[in-house]
Amino acid sequence: MPYDFDTAVNRKRTNSVKHDFAEQYGLGYNCIPLWIADMDFRTVPEVCRALQKRVEHGVFGYSQPGGGYFTAVGQWLASRHNWRVEPRWLALTEGVLPAVSTAIAVLTKPGDSVLIQTPSYNQFNMVIEKSRRKVVKNPLVLEGEAYRVDFDDFERQIERNGVKAFVLCSPHNPVGRVWTEDELVSMGEICMRHGVKVISDEIFADLVYPGHRHTVFASLSREFLDNTVTCMSPTKTFNLSGAPLSNIFIADDDTRYDFEEEHKARGNLGVSALPAVAAQAAYEHGAPWLDELMEYLGGNVAHARDFVKGRLPDVGWTEPEGTYLLWLDFRRAGFWARELEAFIADEAKILLSSEPGAEGFLRLNLASPRSVIEKALRQLEGALERAPSRRADLSPIE
Ligand SMILES: Cc1ncc(COP(=O)(O)O)c(C=O)c1O
Repeated sequence: MPYDFDTAVNRKRTNSVKHDFAEQYGLGYNCIPLWIADMDFRTVPEVCRALQKRVEHGVFGYSQPGGGYFTAVGQWLASRHNWRVEPRWLALTEGVLPAVSTAIAVLTKPGDSVLIQTPSYNQFNMVIEKSRRKVVKNPLVLEGEAYRVDFDDFERQIERNGVKAFVLCSPHNPVGRVWTEDELVSMGEICMRHGVKVISDEIFADLVYPGHRHTVFASLSREFLDNTVTCMSPTKTFNLSGAPLSNIFIADDDTRYDFEEEHKARGNLGVSALPAVAAQAAYEHGAPWLDELMEYLGGNVAHARDFVKGRLPDVGWTEPEGTYLLWLDFRRAGFWARELEAFIADEAKILLSSEPGAEGFLRLNLASPRSVIEKALRQLEGALERAPSRRADLSPIE
């Protein structure tokens, strides 16, 4: 393998949220941090070289991506996702979450209902609630080792609550599903029937395991395209979250106009110079790196699967089809939800993420060298083996 994902990079004292701020946030001391969704790997070497060259120039005045940026994005989407985009559809933002927030502001009014599928990425709740909209939930259903959509409930929630917009997470954080074309069509048709706008967060689009294929929701039909704000980004793909630039595709001219006006109204007039350099280099040169990354992450998944199924009888396995996130079911371990996260931090000395309303489940970020994942799983095993005495006075969740 020409790229090295095995050597641990010391991220301490780099102002990394994952490594430097967990203790400050009260999330546990001296823990292996496997929580927030970034990777412990160095990015594409060509990205570092492009940044170095730009930094050497030394002048960082106002800047915006040129035609070369659009060409790079367009070619990436055509070759990796078979989606042909028009330059005029593209609005740029510094982050997908700000784009989701702007889209909510444009497509709905205060007090309106916005649908999400739970368990969900916790910041969706935050953004919807802080925008003074109502969160409506379509719970995903766990069957064996995978989640599926309850389409009847999906439509019922829309009808009952007069839902105006649906935030689709595709591939899904945290449950790792890569939605099939049929599932996307079914959700899209229900939305069309009820006049529900779709905000499609496809930030994990590029991180899909063999045997699965990401389908761009808006690529499925002209009517879906016109009804959708598609949010994509190179940040998860190439580990560039600290240098954010997101690609927001809006084919409908009126919606795009409203989106750009709202974005400006929030004081956003451009994007930073360095993220654009990084993103363009990543799209132009990052394909071999990404292919190898997915192989490495697939190895981490296989390793974790063997470990969890073989050695952690109290932990339920959910098979990830995409993302680098594992969604682990600790309900059999017999903890109250609030106890679980603290127990894992105090006893296993690893930091995992909880998501609102998903009691008994924690998310583990697999994007670290395999030796780190192995160490974390061993610490988890040891903690769960020591758990019975601690568990005796706790009631099980179910
Ligand atoms: C599904 C999903 N959407 C959006 C974001 C945030 O994206 P950004 O950092 O570009 O705002 C994350 C971050 O983890 C995420 O998991």
